[in-house]
Amino acid sequence: MCGIIGYIGKENPIDILINGLKNLEYRGYDSAGIALKNENEIEIIKSVGKIVNLEEKIKNQELISANIGIAHTRWATHGKPSVENAHPHRVGNITLVHNGIIENAEELREKLKKENVVFEGETDTETLTALINKYYKNDPIEAISNALKEVKGSYALGILFENSNDLYAVRKDSPLIIGIGEKENFIASDIAAIIDYTNKYILLEEGEIAKINKDKVEVTKDKKVVDKQIQVTKLERDAKDKCGYDHYMLKEIMEEPVVLEKTFEPYLDNLEKLPDLTKYEEIHIVACGSAMYAGMIGKTLLEEYANTKVEIDVASEYRYKNIIYDRKTLVILISQSGETADTIAAMRKAKEHKVDTLAIVNVKTSTIARDSDAQIFIEAGPEIAVATTKAYILQVGIMALLAYKTALTKDLVKEEHKVLEEAKKLPRMIKEVLDRREEYKKIAKEIYKSEDVFFIGRKIDYATSQEGSLKIKEISYIHSEAYQAGELKHGTISLIDDGIPVFAIITDDTIKDKTVSNIEEVKSRGAKTIIISNETWDNQKLQVVVPKISPYFQPILIVPTLQLIAYETAKLRGCDIDKPKNLAKSVTVE
Ligand code: F6R
Repeated sequence: MCGIIGYIGKENPIDILINGLKNLEYRGYDSAGIALKNENEIEIIKSVGKIVNLEEKIKNQELISANIGIAHTRWATHGKPSVENAHPHRVGNITLVHNGIIENAEELREKLKKENVVFEGETDTETLTALINKYYKNDPIEAISNALKEVKGSYALGILFENSNDLYAVRKDSPLIIGIGEKENFIASDIAAIIDYTNKYILLEEGEIAKINKDKVEVTKDKKVVDKQIQVTKLERDAKDKCGYDHYMLKEIMEEPVVLEKTFEPYLDNLEKLPDLTKYEEIHIVACGSAMYAGMIGKTLLEEYANTKVEIDVASEYRYKNIIYDRKTLVILISQSGETADTIAAMRKAKEHKVDTLAIVNVKTSTIARDSDAQIFIEAGPEIAVATTKAYILQVGIMALLAYKTALTKDLVKEEHKVLEEAKKLPRMIKEVLDRREEYKKIAKEIYKSEDVFFIGRKIDYATSQEGSLKIKEISYIHSEAYQAGELKHGTISLIDDGIPVFAIITDDTIKDKTVSNIEEVKSRGAKTIIISNETWDNQKLQVVVPKISPYFQPILIVPTLQLIAYETAKLRGCDIDKPKNLAKSVTVE
């Protein structure tokens, strides 16, 4: 997490840095700060909370005129969100911004204290700044390399040296790009931060150090100059606009039909472009959060319709478990950002065991996209709202196509499933579901004052429930839990009381009667039930009915309704929908 931007060029950097930080706010928003530099001095301004607070502070101060600057938006790891702990940090001749975690910071800090270094805050970044300062004897590259030899952990760094008019950058296990402009250059955690100024960039690899001035970027590794390719992003400037919607989350949900069509387009008439999973005896799906819930849908489809053995785990567990790779295995990594630290670690683990990896990923320049053996790209475009919506739908869509192709290869496809035919209709059907906002507002009104909400479902409907439940809790802060419908009476039913909302997802014909009995059980204990289904239920006041479609795609019609119910609920509760508290879009620390 945390976002970094840096500028060196002909302009005063303040507006560029603030604009860039706003585009990076999805990476964390506990505190923010900027450092400005000219030939004589460095000035640092920091504040707690969102970027607007920093902007306000800057407006009310007279600042040095400068042509170099670095800036940072923080998601706190070491040390509470405070001005002292906010970046940039300055120790002696060094001022820097950092994204990542220095794992041996305590040990390094104790050593430096013994060498009489005095620290102002508690962050691992201040320790790193002091360490680079210790090694700085007028050669920035020497100081950076010597310090980083002692460091364990992840970092993307933008560094200013007191006696140098260049900007330095280096990274390990955290993203950082160098933006290339006309008589100006940039560094950023993400191209979206600088897309208003340039679409050209260089990817900095691990172990490389960049020395940047307004006319030139020189990248070295072990003191030898590295020839770097300039790349051009296809990201469009207006991808960052809300396009008239109140929130990015709403805009991104409304984009689902279009991005699904774009994601499916290469495959629907060319299934051979998708990998052949039948080459493997076992599939592992590894991801975090919503991406993991998309994986749960994939697991259910692969098991149910393609008779394929699938294990699934959250990446934070998978990376540390004793995984027995005794059969020919494929590890599927699902990640929107491609930078989730735990998912990256799971990928590395699979690779260490010489197990094939397939990434289902959105950001094409990300670590997971670059380092996995094979990739399927979803075409979500930038997802700005912290809670994922469109990327989740596309992850499910790709898992459905993979399951279908596997079933087809094994000659297991049931004629009535009409998968490819229905896939073509799907974008239009999602649009119909999205257009029924009044229905979702009505349900939101029924639940927004509740303190607890439950979701129940069986098999694929349980996987869908998990995503619905996560959406409610993360953006509206209502406590919510999802249960396998049959599991409720083994404890949780004691929580059901008068008026507690219980969502039941019912789409799987083979098991729906069982879920219906569970609905009766909670109803008789006072629950307010809401059925989300692909058929109409008599005598059920609160219900949403989506069109019936091939079971491969049914979750893709159910989840948008849950996303919009969560959205409307959060809106009624006055929550900060695009930036829920304590969260960050890209979880680049473990
Ligand atoms: C929830 C959400 C998260 C992410 C998770 C994985 O709305 O967005 O649960 O799905 O942090 O992120 P990626 O897909 O970037 O690896």
